Formats: sequence, C-alpha cells, structure tokens
Amino acid sequence: MKKNTFDEPINRLSTGSEKWDALEEIFGVADALPMWVADMDFAAPPSVIEALQTRMEHGIFGYTMRTDAYHEALRGWMERRHNWKINDDWVVFTPGIVPALSIAVQRFTAPGDAVVIQTPVYAPFYEVVRGQDRELMTNPLRFEDGRYSMDLEHLESCLQTGRVKMLILCSPHNPVGRVWSREELEGLAALCVQYNVLVVSDEIHADLVHERGTHIPLSQVSEAIADLSIICTAPSKTFNIPGLCTSNIIIPNASLRESFTQGVKTMGLASISTLGAIAAEAAYNGAEQWLDDCLAYIRGNMEYVQEYVAKHMPDVGIDLPEATYLLWMDFNKLGVPQEELVRLLLNEAGLAFNDGTVFGSEGTGYMRMNVACPRSTVEEAMRRLSVMVNQLNKQN
Ligand SMILES: Cc1ncc(COP(=O)(O)O)c(C=O)c1O
Repeated sequence: MKKNTFDEPINRLSTGSEKWDALEEIFGVADALPMWVADMDFAAPPSVIEALQTRMEHGIFGYTMRTDAYHEALRGWMERRHNWKINDDWVVFTPGIVPALSIAVQRFTAPGDAVVIQTPVYAPFYEVVRGQDRELMTNPLRFEDGRYSMDLEHLESCLQTGRVKMLILCSPHNPVGRVWSREELEGLAALCVQYNVLVVSDEIHADLVHERGTHIPLSQVSEAIADLSIICTAPSKTFNIPGLCTSNIIIPNASLRESFTQGVKTMGLASISTLGAIAAEAAYNGAEQWLDDCLAYIRGNMEYVQEYVAKHMPDVGIDLPEATYLLWMDFNKLGVPQEELVRLLLNEAGLAFNDGTVFGSEGTGYMRMNVACPRSTVEEAMRRLSVMVNQLNKQN
C-alpha cells in the first residue's frame, strides 16, 4: 500500500518543540508519548514551506505589513471555506488568539464585571478573565445521551444578573469537539443581543471541521450579533504553524474595532511576524487540498482509536468530535480517582495526554488525546493504553 505523507514520523526532539521537549518540565516524564498540546506532528503544507524558503533567500526580515495579496488570500479562504464575505478593513492582526482574548477582556470589561465561559473549555479562557480581576461566570455545557450542547436556559439566568458584559465562545469547541448548530448559535446570539453582552468568538478550530461547510462564523448568524462580536480566526491550528504567531481578528463593528486596535497598540503587539504573514498567505492560497487530505488522515486516526477502544477497552468512552484532532476520552467507568488516572497514564502507560480537569471540574474522569500524528504513533498509544486499562481491570 502506498504510504501517505502523513504517515512519515518526523523527529521533533531537540527542536525546541513544546510538545516534545518540554515533557520533563511539564509532566516530569521525559520519554512519554506526547499527545497533549494542540499542535500536529505533521510538516506544514508544501506551499507554505516553499514560500518560506523563497523568503529566506531574500534575507531581510524587517518590519512587515499585511499586503493587498494577503488580504485577498484571507478573503478568498473565508468565502470558499465558510461562505463568509469579509471586508479587508474588518481585520485586525494579533500574534495569537489568546492575546486577542486578553485584550478584548481588558478593553471591553472593567474589574468586577462578569465574563461567561461555557465549560469544560480551553484553560486560558479562565486565565484571561481571572487574571484581570473580572468575575468568571460559568455556563456548563449540557451532556445528555452522549452529546454536549449549550445550556441556553442557564445562560439566560447568568445574563439576568446584570453583571455579565462579555461571553467568550469557543466555536468549534475545545475540548468537546462540537461544531455549534445554527439553532444553538441563534439562541446564544439572541440572548447576547437582548442583554447587550459582547461575544468574543474564538474560532481557531473553524477550519478543522470534519464535514465541510458546517462551521458558522458567529457574525453570519444575524446582523445584530455581527455588530456585537469579535471573531478570532487564525491559520495556526489549520496548517500547523502556531509558532509563526499570526492571527486575524475580524471585527465588523467599526467602534469596537477601533478600540480593540488601540488595545493591540497599547500592549505593544502591533508588529506582525514576517514569516507568519508569508506562511499564512501561502497556506490560504495553496493548501486547500493539503488540509482536506490532512483532515481525512486525522479522521482515519480517530476511527482507528474508536474501533480499537470498542474492541479492547469498552469501558473507555469516546465520541468522535465534529471538529478538531482532539479526542475527549471518558475514563469514568474505570472508577479511578483523577490523580491516579493521570499518574497511571503517564508513569505506567507512558502517555502524555491533557488532564481533563485543566478544562474545568466537568473534565473529571476525562483526558484529551491529540491524534494529529502518524498512524504508527496512534497504534503505539492504543497498545500502551490497553495494557494499562486491562491491568487495572484485572486488579479490580
Ligand atoms: C480554543 C483555542 N483558542 C486559542 C488557542 C491558542 O491560540 P494562540 O496560540 O493563537 O494564542 C488554542 C490552542 O490550543 C485553542 O484551542
């Protein structure tokens, strides 16, 4: 059988890779299989590497601006992939999404105001709120019949307190992998408009949907919410270039945009990465097929895990995500306390997954596994996991 390029393992050790080289520092175990932080073990698309090589030969990496060609590439991508027509002047550049979330909290809320997040969710959502002395209000996701959904009734009760000035939405959702439906987004948007709550929609995983066209950018839901939202997008997860620090924050409302831009300048974050701009433009223009192939490969990995787990470890629960390469695995049936689960996975199985509780208390009994890696890594992880789980079952 012909090997897929995604099958090729690439040695990332001693490259300064956080995922591989920080294991000892973060997990205390240097040789575990790293399947945690959301970065892929795949090389960036060939069009990106070529464009970077050409730029390298030029040899000057001075202060950089976004060109018309960059805007055209971004516009084209949003229209083709998400049926979303954006204006060039809506786009504000930041080095990352987390800085954008932090700036939004700083500019549009005051200490003591409440910010709602829907938990379990990406850990920095907690940090950007609590770290700036805002009140963190949680609207936990519902989990019924094996499916997560938004709890709009509870959300309304949060908004009725009158203290909420902002909601940070994760769309698609990390770690549970939901792609929010139009109905859910409409419900959320209507409430936020009714209570005048600004929505910062983190759409970093939008391109990683497994059914093309299913992600709906929040501002596409209604004109009213387009006027009351900040949409955070980036090529970083999509094309595995997060180290190139490049994000596109899309803000249709002019006065929000002006204030956000001022926040970016105040924080001294207005300079953009030369290589990031080159890579993003090349990716948006020339990596569409690469992304489709990559997503198909990732789905193959996820299906492999699902089948393997069903056959060898039926007590471990997995529902395939609608987006992302992150599997949210339910170990509750094993009946092991979280600390022990984390210890066993790391020290007995040699697997570095993300502890579910870093996403919130709702993550107790869960672990997040990153399958954006060669199939051989996933196979090895499953082998190690089944030895650990079966050993545990024998003891119980
Ligand atoms: C939902 C979400 N937002 C933001 C980020 C990181 O954004 P950045 O590296 O651009 O700050 C991640 C990375 O995993 C993420 O999952």
